[in-house]
Amino acid sequence: MRAIVASEPGGPEVLTFTDRPEPEPAAGEVVVEVAATAVNRADLLQRRGLYPPPPGASDILGLECSGWVSALGEGVDGWQVGDPVCALLSGGGYAERVNVPAGQLMPVPDGLDVQTAAALPEVACTVWSNVAMVAHLQPLETLLVHGGAGGIGTFAVQLAHALGSTVIATAGSAEKLAVCRRLGADVAVNYREQDFVEEVRAATDGRGADVILDNMGAAYLGRNVDALAAEGRLVVIGMQGGSKAELDLGRLLAKRGAVIATALRSRPTDQKAAICAAVRERVWPLVAAGEVEPIVHARYPLSEAAAAHAEVEAGRSIGKVLLTLRSGPG
Ligand SMILES: NC(=O)c1ccc[n+]([C@@H]2O[C@H](COP(=O)([O-])OP(=O)(O)OC[C@H]3O[C@@H](n4cnc5c(N)ncnc54)[C@H](OP(=O)(O)O)[C@@H]3O)[C@@H](O)[C@H]2O)c1
Repeated sequence: MRAIVASEPGGPEVLTFTDRPEPEPAAGEVVVEVAATAVNRADLLQRRGLYPPPPGASDILGLECSGWVSALGEGVDGWQVGDPVCALLSGGGYAERVNVPAGQLMPVPDGLDVQTAAALPEVACTVWSNVAMVAHLQPLETLLVHGGAGGIGTFAVQLAHALGSTVIATAGSAEKLAVCRRLGADVAVNYREQDFVEEVRAATDGRGADVILDNMGAAYLGRNVDALAAEGRLVVIGMQGGSKAELDLGRLLAKRGAVIATALRSRPTDQKAAICAAVRERVWPLVAAGEVEPIVHARYPLSEAAAAHAEVEAGRSIGKVLLTLRSGPG
């Protein structure tokens, strides 16, 4: 089968088609015939040689896909050949077919076409696992989402709004701020022009944000702690602003605050399965009801993966960028 790998560390131009053996499902796995996959920031880092796949994972890029079940390994229950699915992957999505542990499969949410479902697994699993399972965001609490117009951000804003939380989102342009508001942000902050700590305090009567979902890491650590409410939970999922910073524990302990950092890709298979099961149960009904929608910025055929990477890397995308392979099974 054909698949895309980075031929060497570098820019989008190193993405090349290669021939790989057809995947065979081991016990507990299924093979998915890929309808579409999506570009994640981790793919950009992996392409540059800065984020190697975890041990045992494919070197083929791609952390999520949608498609149809094409083969079942021993002991797999609950799925049939031909079922439309989407899946969370440790790698391998930029390919015609991919092996997936059965626990990481999810049905295509009702009302969605199969290709568009490729926009969901990574953002739904990342946002649900961090905002709900790790930070325990409650209705009536306030969530600050940095990068509210990105793939993760557009999903987090909608989900938290649907759960009844107050949502504050940051973004860097008027267009992106308008998207955040349309998706349910109560307050949208232009981080280039406004101080998000002041804006969060103003929006919460000085209390601060109960939960912060952060993509910036080091660059925002101190100000994120300042923006936290008492008993607040700061969850760092990205390091777009670096990984090393000084933390004033005095400011954190005065708030009885928590700083947590997580990565979905390196979680063990059983944890990924538990997250997918929770997403299926709690998030898919919101998608089926139209309360949370996949936001797709652009679709490129897989053969144009380099152009898709360049688009995400330039920071132009709002929501997800998809790579499409086929619109029907077989
Ligand atoms: N830990 C995990 O398990 C996990 C899983 C998935 C993703 N992630 C990480 O989560 C982050 C977001 O992923 P994504 O897929 O949503 O990427 P994305 O679609 O490229 O979005 C990134 C966003 O960052 C925003 N941004 C850039 N500089 C900013 C700043 N100074 N302040 C606030 N926002 C800023 C950009 O918005 P503007 O154009 O408005 O600046 C852009 O919308 C990435 O760092 C990714 O690696 C982590």
